[in-house]
Amino acid sequence: MTPWRIRARKGGEPLVCLTAYDHPTAQRLDPLVDLLLVGDSLGMVVYGEDSTLGVTLDMMVAHGRAVARAAGHACVVVDLPFGSYQESREQAFRSAARLLAETGCAAVKLEGGREMAETIAFLVERGIPVMGHVGLKPQMVRLLGGFRTQGRTPSEAEGVIEDTRAVDAAGAFSIVVEGTVEEVAAQATAVAAAPTIGIGASASCDGQILVTPDLAGLTVGHVPRFAKQYGQLGEALEQAVATYAEEVRARRFPGEDHVVHAGSAPAPDRTPKP
Ligand code: KIV
Repeated sequence: MTPWRIRARKGGEPLVCLTAYDHPTAQRLDPLVDLLLVGDSLGMVVYGEDSTLGVTLDMMVAHGRAVARAAGHACVVVDLPFGSYQESREQAFRSAARLLAETGCAAVKLEGGREMAETIAFLVERGIPVMGHVGLKPQMVRLLGGFRTQGRTPSEAEGVIEDTRAVDAAGAFSIVVEGTVEEVAAQATAVAAAPTIGIGASASCDGQILVTPDLAGLTVGHVPRFAKQYGQLGEALEQAVATYAEEVRARRFPGEDHVVHAGSAPAPDRTPKP
């Protein structure tokens, strides 16, 4: 999937998107989804921070590279973290170019509406596909005073629609609509030529994205109300580790299948990747 194929799905079969932060998870998700986002949500779900503000470009390069190497099917998009693009369009270009060059991703995502439209156009005109992000913008959490649903009042709703129009006109190939009331998500989807990808924004969008640890039941603690849990991998992991611990303590692991005896034929323990 390329950014342009994602864009061509406007109004068609809903786009299936998920976040990914590491190589083995991305290998499993890649054949099943249209788009993998290396989101700066990794600051919270991988590094345990209380916001995305501490995420650096170096962190996004490292995780972006691990995910992009795993992808043969999905379009891989990497987030521009807080502070790496808001200063000027030139700063945004340098950061985005670094993500493309050093990770092998197909596109970048940045948060912002009308105030970022000029920057998005600058990047797109210079060959960098951009995914927009309107509605609830987690990088603005200090100003917003928390993660709260957007578009409840007429003026807030109008703001999200105007942001969507601006990001769309600037050339974004798709637009994440996060944390808005359904009516606003539906209107944003109607006004944008690019597909909208909803998270906490209802099924009126052209596609959906979730944070994978939330979907898989790996998140410890609070899971947002909009994040449906499709599995309980956290419990499965705890069960596997409890069994391992029990077998180690009882000296049942390693067993005969997992040991090498003197004089046995040599065989590689691990096969390096070609
Ligand atoms: O950082 C992220 O994971 C995101 C998604 C929630 C859309 O921006």
